[in-house]
Amino acid sequence: MQSHQAGDLEAAERQYREVLELRAAQPDAMHYLGVLCHQRARSDEGVRLIEAALKITPRHPDAHNNLGNIHKECGRLAAAERCYRKALECGAQHYNAQNNLAVVLEAQERVEEAFEAYAKLLRQAPKFAQGYYLMGRFLRNYAQSKEHVEQSVQCFRKAYELDRHNLRALESLGMSLYTLNRIKEAVQVYRDWLAREPDHPVPRHMLAACGGAQAPLRAADDYVRQVFDAFADSFDEQLLKNLGYRAPQVLADALGGMLTGAAGAFEVLDAGCGTGLCEPLLRPYARRLVGVDLSGGMIEKARLRGGYDELEVAELTGYLQAHPAAYDIVFSADTLEYFGELREVLEAAHAALRPGGWLAFTVEVAQGEDDRVDLAPSGRYQHTHCHVERALSSAGYSQVSIGTDTLRKEGGQPVAGWVVLAQRTAQG
Ligand SMILES: C[S@@+](CC[C@H](N)C(=O)[O-])C[C@H]1O[C@@H](n2cnc3c(N)ncnc32)[C@H](O)[C@@H]1O
Repeated sequence: MQSHQAGDLEAAERQYREVLELRAAQPDAMHYLGVLCHQRARSDEGVRLIEAALKITPRHPDAHNNLGNIHKECGRLAAAERCYRKALECGAQHYNAQNNLAVVLEAQERVEEAFEAYAKLLRQAPKFAQGYYLMGRFLRNYAQSKEHVEQSVQCFRKAYELDRHNLRALESLGMSLYTLNRIKEAVQVYRDWLAREPDHPVPRHMLAACGGAQAPLRAADDYVRQVFDAFADSFDEQLLKNLGYRAPQVLADALGGMLTGAAGAFEVLDAGCGTGLCEPLLRPYARRLVGVDLSGGMIEKARLRGGYDELEVAELTGYLQAHPAAYDIVFSADTLEYFGELREVLEAAHAALRPGGWLAFTVEVAQGEDDRVDLAPSGRYQHTHCHVERALSSAGYSQVSIGTDTLRKEGGQPVAGWVVLAQRTAQG
């Protein structure tokens, strides 16, 4: 268990197996080996092991809870819910299971039940900072009135008060204040945070996003890493279920309409691949599918899918520049929102494409006829049509199509995006 906790999965697996050779049905070894198998992308084996452990010790709340976590991360939400309920039957005060139950109800869009479950968690564990953070996030995601956003402010304040390491609560506090148009207070949250931690990339970026400092040309690497490493575990359920995320599908549909040539024939780059949500959409086109992302945490999640031929932790522009004429398709869903001025990254993508290859990407819409990029209070950039068009043309693309669609929801409202396809000329 010490090896496991220290992250030495290979040693831990060997040692758990040694225990099981000595005592074939030692339930703790089976349980923890099950968790470990899931971490090493062998989730089915993990499920079998924990189920076997539960046959021996059926009233083990942690084992039910961990089994629920595997089902949740594999997208089997109903099975996960059953496990969390069993964990609670075995130990009614199991806060993690109550917390997970609330999350999984929210992910199934059972809003009333999720609210009840979060409320119960806060009654049971009034000092549990994460509970307040999740309740705040829930209230903002499903806000039906200004009052709900105001309540989210209270929750984020409380979460931070209880746990000064819960920096996501502080970041969310600023965002809720901004949503309520309490911009001075939002700016103050980030200024105070920066005064305490002058080198922290999140308040530096978010202060600019609130208009309290000059926006950088693109989100700094350490900001992207920090945000997405912390987001990796909950990214899929947050985006797909709570934020109605559809950028990958919308972009894949647009690309599918343009491609000619045999399925499975292309060298494909998933640029800013995150946890790999685009992988099943790109796989049918790919002879070889490569994913690149700045966040090691996100890449680890993508690796668990087992569907990429290669995954690399790298900054996107640099990666593209280092791979001239390597790809037939460069596909980038919801990633260039972290870039302000697009020209440099679009030039790099152009160079990384083979002649005739396609670049496909989404970015958020900034209204207006001028050539403009705004850093929005969400921390993401928004681009005008004119900016996207000019950046593509000066990067040298020939055939260009810029459509619009909804990419996701934010604060209950649809977020409009440009859905862009651009081709490198066939001559080179
Ligand atoms: C909103 S997620 C989208 C992930 C994935 N494309 C999807 O649709 O699920 C944005 C991703 O872009 C990555 N990213 C942002 N800026 C980057 C950069 N400069 N280089 C590489 N990756 C970057 C982040 O780490 C994050 O995983």
